Amino acid sequence: MNNAFLKSFQTLRQVYEERAFSVIVLNKTLNNCTKRDRALITKIVYGVLDNDLRLEYIISRYVRKMPKGEALLFLKIGTYCLMELSIPIYTVVNDIAELSKLSGDRRTVGFVNATLKTIGIYAKDFDEYPTDDLERLSVRYSYPMWALKKLIKDYGRQTAERIISFTPDSRTTVRFVNSATPIQIQERFGVEAEATIFEDAFRIKGGLPNDSAEMTMQSLSSMAISRICASLIPSNGNFLDCCAAPGGKSVYVKQLRPDTNVISCDIHAHRVELIEAYSRRMQVRLKTYCRDMTVYEPKWNSFFDTVLCDVPCSGFGVLDNRPDIKLFRQNKDISELMKLQLAILDNCSRYVKPGGSLIYSTCTVFYNENGQNIRKFLIDHSDFSAGRILLNQIPAADGKDQYQFLPYKDGMQGFFVAVLTRTK
Ligand SMILES: C[S@@+](CC[C@H](N)C(=O)[O-])C[C@H]1O[C@@H](n2cnc3c(N)ncnc32)[C@H](O)[C@@H]1O
Repeated sequence: MNNAFLKSFQTLRQVYEERAFSVIVLNKTLNNCTKRDRALITKIVYGVLDNDLRLEYIISRYVRKMPKGEALLFLKIGTYCLMELSIPIYTVVNDIAELSKLSGDRRTVGFVNATLKTIGIYAKDFDEYPTDDLERLSVRYSYPMWALKKLIKDYGRQTAERIISFTPDSRTTVRFVNSATPIQIQERFGVEAEATIFEDAFRIKGGLPNDSAEMTMQSLSSMAISRICASLIPSNGNFLDCCAAPGGKSVYVKQLRPDTNVISCDIHAHRVELIEAYSRRMQVRLKTYCRDMTVYEPKWNSFFDTVLCDVPCSGFGVLDNRPDIKLFRQNKDISELMKLQLAILDNCSRYVKPGGSLIYSTCTVFYNENGQNIRKFLIDHSDFSAGRILLNQIPAADGKDQYQFLPYKDGMQGFFVAVLTRTK
């Protein structure tokens, strides 16, 4: 049996049936695989999740009755391979039919085999998407209709299409702690590296060369938020990262500003352990607390120079890393998230010193969770006013009070950031 297909199937089944996080299950799967299989499994797992709606639509065009469960998953994997990968049709059809024997049902095997043979003929040139404009966009780019409507409301039809149709760079962004150049990285680690807007970050094919304290994976958007925070901390200042796990931004802030007292909190004990493990690996000292940051802590009142609320959000700015968000997130989650986001921001704003800065960030692209929350916060808090982002590497953001990063125009994940200043 084709090992890459088998592992992809087992991983995807866990995501679809148990709603397991794709990154977590995939990482476990990849542990025991060859390098060649690892690349193919990653492509199939992310590809099937990212194209879920589109694959279902295409399959629906070639079957009389839509299958469910395992049979549908065999077809999704097969259809994705036929459309997007350069594997010969007969290999895909035969290997997926072989895989479908796991169902223990001869009719399923026959059905999968026959359907994939037909899809194989049309897959590469398939273009019979729905004629209705929104339906076509939603199916073609596998973007849930409710989320597409939100995007169109926030950005207009044209920009919405740009956002959902953009294919991000699949290379990993690696941040080096000490100065490095693409040539030095190539010489030391034998991997090709390309410079980015930040002098310490490089795009590298194939992932992290090693997991020493010298380097770490970090997205450019996450780095941008840390850099904005670091620029707003005075000498020997106190910095509070309210929703800090797994610690990406806290650790970088401490590395950018070693004189800072960094306090990192998260509501979940197991996630606070992640911050601790990561800061140990990066050889950085932070103070960590397991706290619900919607609950007031009197001893922190007006104590911090700079406070970051990197709040939980719908995650629609990081679909390249977590395509399963498109499958499971629902419109009704957004209002719940907004309540939590504002509750954290509200409570943690009290920890900012007069004259200090409050930074709000998310990894999503919806106005409700971003600009609208800031608007509401400013209406309710006359002691805060719009502040100023300092980030000369991104001129479009530099000097503004808030900024929405968008992959298609900024070349980085869709984070949002707003800077607020406590005036009294
Ligand atoms: C977007 S993630 C933070 C990512 C992190 N800042 C980084 O850069 O690595 C949001 C975090 O908020 C935490 N969280 C959710 N509700 C919280 C609450 N009420 N208080 C504190 N943390 C919370 C989650 O556990 C999650 O780790």
